[in-house]
Amino acid sequence: MSGSSTILELREVTVRFAGLVALDGVSLTATEGRVTGVIGPNGAGKTTLFNVVCGFVRPDAGEVRWRGRALRRHRPHDLTRLGIARTLQGLGLFPGLTVLENVMVGAEPHARAGFWSGLFALPRADRDEAALRERAMARLAELGVAGEAARPPGELPYGVQKRVALARALVAEPDLLLLDEPAAGLSAAEMDELAELIRGLRGGPAVVLVEHHMDLVMSVCDQVVVLDFGKVIASGPPDRVRDDPAVLDAYLGEEVAGA
Ligand SMILES: Nc1ncnc2c1ncn2[C@@H]1O[C@H](COP(=O)(O)OP(=O)(O)OP(=O)(O)O)[C@@H](O)[C@H]1O
Ligand SMILES: [Mg+2]
Repeated sequence: MSGSSTILELREVTVRFAGLVALDGVSLTATEGRVTGVIGPNGAGKTTLFNVVCGFVRPDAGEVRWRGRALRRHRPHDLTRLGIARTLQGLGLFPGLTVLENVMVGAEPHARAGFWSGLFALPRADRDEAALRERAMARLAELGVAGEAARPPGELPYGVQKRVALARALVAEPDLLLLDEPAAGLSAAEMDELAELIRGLRGGPAVVLVEHHMDLVMSVCDQVVVLDFGKVIASGPPDRVRDDPAVLDAYLGEEVAGA
């Protein structure tokens, strides 16, 4: 529908850890159908920002607004219900489940509805389960890994497992997808594939991509926010941010692969 409405907004968010200011009055917005990148050198506050949105960390000042309302006491287990999905640094796949089962787990609230109806009416539960299975297979197919549905994730190359983790995040049809350093541990070729996948999400959920790799962020994002020592030092379209002297300064001395 309206492809340009703000769905997530951080207003002047400050987080302190025992005297250290990890985020210092950070504001940003994420918009439906667009990819927003958050980059910055080590210790800039990227993960802290991610954790604030997920409800792991409470801001000391400022607020997180979701669909125009302040989120004050949300917790990570509220995210799916709110319409927020995330992939964590690393994989977080369950080794004892198949690829398909791992993806089905991502739609937890729907699955739970199936559980309750299952207590009273088995056919309904079967129907829910079948529908969920179908949705999970559809996500796997979109990400090009449907052929691996029956295998345990541990047998698959890392890049393929990353796709499975992404399918799991998408199966609940979130309005916001948070990606925490999805490129960590990927080869250059896998990173290109990831960039393609993220570009393919454009027009779908709002995406917030927290990443250390400046070149990946620049190639997939519609807008970029650059953090350094907890402060926003630049924001705007990628080509403008890329050439900003403050950004070049912040990244000086960092290995910026391919940049
Ligand atoms: N739980 C915590 N307790 C104390 N200090 C913390 C905590 N979490 C983060 N910090 C500090 O806050 C600052 C920001 O850390 P954060 O992890 O958000 O940075 P980052 O941008 O994700 O870095 P990286 O690129 O290394 O992942 C750092 O100085 C870090 O040491
Ligand atoms: Mg981090």
